[in-house]
Amino acid sequence: MLNVIDFIHAQRDRYVDELTRFLAIPSISALPAHAADVRRCAEWLADQMRGVGLENVRLEATPGNPIVYGEWLHAPGAPTMLFYGHYDVQPVDPIDLWESPPFEATVRDGEIYARGAADDKGQVFMHLKAIEAHMKQTGKLPVNIKLIVEGEEEVGSANLDEFVRANKPALASDVVVISDSAMFDRGVPSICYSLRGLVYFQIDMRGTRSDLHSGVFGGAVANPAMVLAQVLAQMKDRGGRVKIPGFYDDVRPLSDDERQAWKTLPFNEKQYRKALGAPKLFGETGFSTLERVWARPTFEVNGLLSGFTGEGAKTVIPAVAMAKVSMRLVPDQNPDRIAELVEAYVKKITPKTVEVTVTRLHGGKPWLTDYHNSFVQAASRAIEQGFGKAPVFCREGGSIPVVSTFQEELGVPAVLFGVGLPDENAHAPNEKLDLANFHGGIVSAAILYDEIAKTAV
Ligand code: BES
Ligand code: MN
Ligand code: MN
Repeated sequence: MLNVIDFIHAQRDRYVDELTRFLAIPSISALPAHAADVRRCAEWLADQMRGVGLENVRLEATPGNPIVYGEWLHAPGAPTMLFYGHYDVQPVDPIDLWESPPFEATVRDGEIYARGAADDKGQVFMHLKAIEAHMKQTGKLPVNIKLIVEGEEEVGSANLDEFVRANKPALASDVVVISDSAMFDRGVPSICYSLRGLVYFQIDMRGTRSDLHSGVFGGAVANPAMVLAQVLAQMKDRGGRVKIPGFYDDVRPLSDDERQAWKTLPFNEKQYRKALGAPKLFGETGFSTLERVWARPTFEVNGLLSGFTGEGAKTVIPAVAMAKVSMRLVPDQNPDRIAELVEAYVKKITPKTVEVTVTRLHGGKPWLTDYHNSFVQAASRAIEQGFGKAPVFCREGGSIPVVSTFQEELGVPAVLFGVGLPDENAHAPNEKLDLANFHGGIVSAAILYDEIAKTAV
């Protein structure tokens, strides 16, 4: 093992150069104009996977972007781990706020800046380099590995559930390993044992056939921008509680043990507020900030559009108004059931003065696992060796739709060991990854494979 770790330490500069090439491909899944880049990224990744010694590497076609698959299955008797990650990235807007071009990775103060640095190319690359180190130094891996790296995570993984269901025997494994999350804080390595789910909608309202002169017609018809605002205002009460009937029916209450455990985490509310630049924090009455983002569901307006928003004034009644809204869900809320409740509620509270349509966009189920299982303990030992500090166990407020699918369809535990940081600007301008964490992640991943090999299945 020493050889493998020494090898990794000697390769730091090369790893950064190679990651820079991965980050140079603008694999933005949300934008059709980047379809060719997404494909090129999948091909680049497949070549890398072949290069580190993985076998049967191929692009699996889907109705959307390809899934990159690779495997190495020559460790008889050892467990099989299924690695999952994504090579697609979020759009870069607003581009003006980037201090260096999003697809020309730049190192400043020990951080590599680029779209996808943390979410999730950097973290996928860690595992490829850990595999490479084992193969180069020992000619083999301590475990059997299957890898799937998808290109549609940032748009809801619409085709991945079907792929998993259709390939259950081929994906059979003992544990799923994912690095697509963050550490609790700088210097606080973490294992994540729960993710929130998601359900996302577009709400469209139409008042009249066309925009109207607000003097000539003002007073005679409802204003859809106003109606939309009134409807949205009825989604939550002043205490931050969602008012959709039945919304909380399946929310699993937080146990006292978990509540107590979270109180020992190094969380500073004042620093958190300051880092966000918020004048005051706000959330559901009766819950702490960590409880609100990790264990409680939310309703958010993601975007609003209506009427005249240009310079100066224009006297007009808009014909239409639109909102993008989403809800983060927690165990045991089901996105399909919540979607029905939302649609019914919006239709019920919208007055007859406008036509309303509610269109469901993407989503995913929440996920929660018992972190006392032996694979999580294996990851804990690996992280302790790689980062010199035992990890804390935390939940995350974000979503990775396929994780609950893996648990349900393959019946195996998932281990989420991420090395991002909460301030790494995922989805925002100036996304970055701390290079010390990147290297610690490669070392931890290499050790993790050995620790998994020692774990009884
Ligand atoms: N890697 C994130 C999810 C995440 C973020 C997990 C932070 C843990 C900590 C993932 O790429 C992501 O952004 N997911 C989307 C899912 C959606 C598009 C269906 C999300 O959470 O909004
Ligand atoms: Mn991600
Ligand atoms: Mn993301």
